[in-house]
Amino acid sequence: MTIKILPLTPDTLSVLVEHFKRHRAESGLDGVHFMPFAPDDPNGPTGPSSDRPFWSLDTPGWQRWFCAHDTQSGHIVGHVDLKSDPLRTGVHWCHLGIGIDRVYRGQGLGEQLMQAAINFVKASPGIDHIELRVFANNTPAVALYKKMGFKEVGTLKDRFRIQGQSIDDTVMVLGI
Ligand SMILES: CC(C)(COP(=O)(O)OP(=O)(O)OC[C@H]1O[C@@H](n2cnc3c(N)ncnc32)[C@H](O)[C@@H]1OP(=O)(O)O)[C@@H](O)C(=O)NCCC(=O)NCCS
Repeated sequence: MTIKILPLTPDTLSVLVEHFKRHRAESGLDGVHFMPFAPDDPNGPTGPSSDRPFWSLDTPGWQRWFCAHDTQSGHIVGHVDLKSDPLRTGVHWCHLGIGIDRVYRGQGLGEQLMQAAINFVKASPGIDHIELRVFANNTPAVALYKKMGFKEVGTLKDRFRIQGQSIDDTVMVLGI
């Protein structure tokens, strides 16, 4: 199996959308949610925008996506996304999200995708901080973020209630 980590291009957007649909459907499957939506919530996560991934970095609202491509199947099997702060006064911050297809977890892809995102921010003048939110009971994700140097700044107790489950949400940051 050969996996390549590549930045999103217009040509691969539809393949990324397919991965994102699978990813969304996996949240909560084994009792551990990683997205703040119940499976039947019509207002689910929006996934990649069709144009924002290609906006310049001086336009608030830009996104960047890095994708793990399985070169045999042609599928995208993991992603990391960076989203700018929507306000001009906050553009020195961006927000990070990540997800790997279930059967591809535990093989180092999460770490490789995180490193691609961090390298991108390091090479982008004017972006000085990465922020993310993670459900406090999402042990694999919290461990990955700590391994990549993120620090916890606080936890919002009872932030979400999904199918009767109360979920604490932890804020983590990395200074670049
Ligand atoms: C969190 C996630 C991205 C990790 O990706 P991955 O490819 O499985 O992780 P890797 O194989 O690269 O592992 C890197 C590190 O992550 C941590 N980690 C990964 N899986 C773990 C597990 N099951 N338990 C504890 N730590 C784990 C470890 O620190 C590991 O380093 P190590 O191998 O030296 O111990 C993946 O589990 C995933 O997609 N989960 C569902 C989506 C999700 O939770 N997204 C984050 C929402 S905030």
